[in-house]
Amino acid sequence: MSKDRLILRAIRREPTERRPLWIMRQAGRYLPEYRKLRENYSFKALSQSPELSTEVTLLPMKRYPFDAAIIFADIMSPLPALGVEFDFNPGPIVANPIRSQKDIDLLIPPDPEKLGPEVITALRQTRSSLPEDTALLGFCGAPWTLAAYLVEGRGVKDFPTLRAFAAAQPDALSSLLKKLSDAMAVYLINQANAGADAVQIFDSWAGILSLDDWERLIRPHLQTLLEKVGDAGIPRLLFLQNAPHLVDAYASLPAEVLAVDWRINLADAQKRYANHAVQGNIDPAILLHGPASTKIAAKQLLQRVKPTGHIVNLGHGILPKTPLESVEALVDVVHNEKLE
Ligand code: CP3
Repeated sequence: MSKDRLILRAIRREPTERRPLWIMRQAGRYLPEYRKLRENYSFKALSQSPELSTEVTLLPMKRYPFDAAIIFADIMSPLPALGVEFDFNPGPIVANPIRSQKDIDLLIPPDPEKLGPEVITALRQTRSSLPEDTALLGFCGAPWTLAAYLVEGRGVKDFPTLRAFAAAQPDALSSLLKKLSDAMAVYLINQANAGADAVQIFDSWAGILSLDDWERLIRPHLQTLLEKVGDAGIPRLLFLQNAPHLVDAYASLPAEVLAVDWRINLADAQKRYANHAVQGNIDPAILLHGPASTKIAAKQLLQRVKPTGHIVNLGHGILPKTPLESVEALVDVVHNEKLE
C-alpha cells in the first residue's frame, strides 16, 4: 500500500488520476490554529515536543486534503547532537558561530540516536495518525544551507561572512560540510525508518555562490549525502531556491525529484530533466492576492506542466498572511483536474 501513495507514484513518474499536492511550510503561521498554539508555546517548545510537533504536523491535514504531511521540525533540529546551541527569532540564531577549523574540530561526532530524537518520535506518532493513503515526508537542510546559519550565525542577506569563510578557508568549509553531510545521511535514514516515505533536502541558500565555486566546494558533499540516502532506497526530493544559475548542476545530482522556486520555468525544467520528477512552483506571493489570482496561477501551471511526474507545490514556503481561501482555491484546481 505505502508504495501506492499518490506522491510516491508521481515520484516514480507513473501516471496518476490527478497530480499530488502539498505545500512547503503547510504547518505554519497562515493557519489560525497554529497562531493560537504559538500564543502559549515558543516555536522551539513546539518543535522539541514530539506530541506538539505531531499535533502541528496534522493541523493542515485536518483542513485540506494534502497528499503528504511534512513533519513539523526545523532544519536546525538535529544540530544539538553535534553540540550546536541556537534559538529562534524568528529564524535560527546560533550561540557560537563557526568561524575556524578549531570551531569545527569542537563539533561532537553525533550519536545516531541523538539526531533529533523528538523528530523521530513525532514521525512515528504522525504516521500512526495519518490516513493510509497520505504520505509522510521527512526533511533536512542541505549541508551548505546548514553551514550558512552555522557560520553566519543567523539569516543575513547573501550571507557575506559565509562567503568570506568559503573564500578564505575552503579546507575548513569542506571539513564542516563533510561533518554535516555524514550527520544528515544518518538522520534521514532514521527518519525513513520511523515512517517517512520520502525526504526533501532543502538547499534554500544554494544560490549565493558562483557555479564554479559551487562545483568545487559544495557539490561533493551534497552528492555524498544524496548517494547514501539513495543507497538506503529512500526517494529524494531536492529543493533549491534562488539559484537559476545552478539548476543544470542540481539536475545532475542523484535525486528523484527536482524542486524549484518560481523563478524557474517548470515546463522547461520538465523537458530538460526528463529523468526527474519535478515539484513546484507557484509564487507564494500570488496566494496573498486571494483565491481568484491563485486559481489563474494554478490553472496556468497545470496547463504548462505535463501531469506525469509533477508534484504541485509553491515555489517556496507559504507566507504567513496568506488567506485560507487561496489554499482552498489551489486544492480545488488540482483536485478538479481530470487526467486520463
Ligand atoms: O514545511 C513545513 O511545514 C515543515 C516545517 C519546517 C519549518 N522549517 C518550520 C518552521 C520546515 C520544512 C522548515 C525548513 C527550514 N527552516 C528552512 C528550509 C526551507 C525554507 O524555508 O527555505 C530554513 C531556511 C529554515 C530556517 C528557519 N527556521 C527560518 C528562516 C525561520 C524563520 C521564520 C520562517 O517561517 O521563515 C525558521 C523558523 C520556523 N521554522 C518557523 C516554522 C513554522 C516559524 C516559527 C514561528 O515563528 O512560528
